[in-house]
Amino acid sequence: MTPSRTALLLIASLTYTACDSPSSADDDAPHDGIDDPGVAQGGKADTNGYEDRGYESTCILRVANGSDLATLDDDAGLWGASAKAIIAAKRGPDGEPSTADDLQFATLTELDAVDWVGFLSFRAMLEYGQAEGLCPGLGEEYPPPGEDEATDRIIARIGDRMQREFTAGARPSTRGLHAKGRCVQGTFTVDNAALPASLRVGVFASDTAYPAWVRFSNGNPHVQADGEGDVRGMAIKLMDVPGTKLLEDEKDADTHDFLLNHTPTIPTADALDFAAIVDRSEDDENPVLAFLSWNPFDIELTKIRLLIASVTTPIINPLSTTYWSQSPYRLGGETVAVKYRARPCPGAALGPELDDADPEYFTASMQQQLAAGTACFEFAIQRQRDPATMPIEDNSVEWREAESAFVPVATLEIAAQDFASDANREACEHLSFTPWHALPEHRPLGSLNRARRRAYEAISKRRHELNGVPRQEP
Ligand code: HEM
Repeated sequence: MTPSRTALLLIASLTYTACDSPSSADDDAPHDGIDDPGVAQGGKADTNGYEDRGYESTCILRVANGSDLATLDDDAGLWGASAKAIIAAKRGPDGEPSTADDLQFATLTELDAVDWVGFLSFRAMLEYGQAEGLCPGLGEEYPPPGEDEATDRIIARIGDRMQREFTAGARPSTRGLHAKGRCVQGTFTVDNAALPASLRVGVFASDTAYPAWVRFSNGNPHVQADGEGDVRGMAIKLMDVPGTKLLEDEKDADTHDFLLNHTPTIPTADALDFAAIVDRSEDDENPVLAFLSWNPFDIELTKIRLLIASVTTPIINPLSTTYWSQSPYRLGGETVAVKYRARPCPGAALGPELDDADPEYFTASMQQQLAAGTACFEFAIQRQRDPATMPIEDNSVEWREAESAFVPVATLEIAAQDFASDANREACEHLSFTPWHALPEHRPLGSLNRARRRAYEAISKRRHELNGVPRQEP
């Protein structure tokens, strides 16, 4: 349970204790909510400590929308008054079942507005849903309401800023995010011996050595000194990958991309969170305030901590840092979801720690490391084991290694090369990475990844149009 949830439950329980008890709403029900601190009639301002989107909310809504009175009252164990009120609300204004004005609850807030429905009802429906297998299963997606609008906003805000800056003379246009980067070329060699046969699919189907482009980036939308606190990215583009890819426009490309950042989680649960951060950042406000501004009761301490960690976790050298995909991906069958991690090969020498006062010290530290030998990353997958504790839709939740260990599936080796040459920089700038440059066996999952499908394509197209260069896979 997150701190914010604990705080909400405390507030909720104090509120409900002070509310009127139900009177004659359901005289024949075995327990009517009398003296029940979790049931209140009206006057509720939050969703009783449950997030209005995500695993628990989805499960509760499925039970509320899909159950009749007997199921809610007898099987799920709701108070009689609560069960009757839910059924009455679903019948719509005419009070009749199976008529045109019947409704389904789209959000927990709508359900919470029903009389006598509160924390206890939510908990009972959640427990019933879990026991009956009604909650989201392994690998299952359950999009939050408002995701498409949030994605539109992300694209519009980032795109508008790129256009503004280009018009003001900032040319060429850099990427909408992760503006500064260095590209190297390497070899990504699969060794699928540790995978069960059912997971030997897509790029992991056989022990192939793929040539790869790798772009190490700073997350900021503007090019700034390497010593500035920032998100650090690693984008891998495998070449010579046969098979039809997910993006219609690039379905025949021979590339497959993996995108990772240097912390295990992203502070934003989903596209709605990400849009709030983009709003704040584009308005030059403190993004931490985005988490405080939605709900004065909801302190979102966990996300604030993650946000601070995402830009303050120091790195010595992009070639000796660990990166995580943060968001999940399918691997083969419908019920298998995995996250990715790339870490320096066990036993490999780590790069030099240089003076971060040099604005280009990553170039220098990468050059020194490559001059001393090959850089090497172990690429591993982590399988989802529990849909509640390892959620698909909330990428601010870490999938703990104690619950599911990473299994190595490939090695990425990068030999000495002149990556800082003008020609290499130019080629690097025109590349486009997206998690949707992918084989269907590795389909991106979850709200952030769905938002990324449209966002990366639109923002990359904008960059190439502004710069007047063709947009094509290498
Ligand atoms: C979920 C975790 C995420 C990770 C690990 C991640 C990682 C990355 C990386 C590594 C890059 C640099 C790619 C390159 O070198 O060209 C990048 C760029 C970018 N990211 Fe993300 N990202 C995440 C989420 C998101 C989300 C949710 C959005 C928006 C919906 C987003 C929008 C972008 C955009 C617009 C770019 C620039 C693309 C371009 O101009 O070509 N990212 N991201």
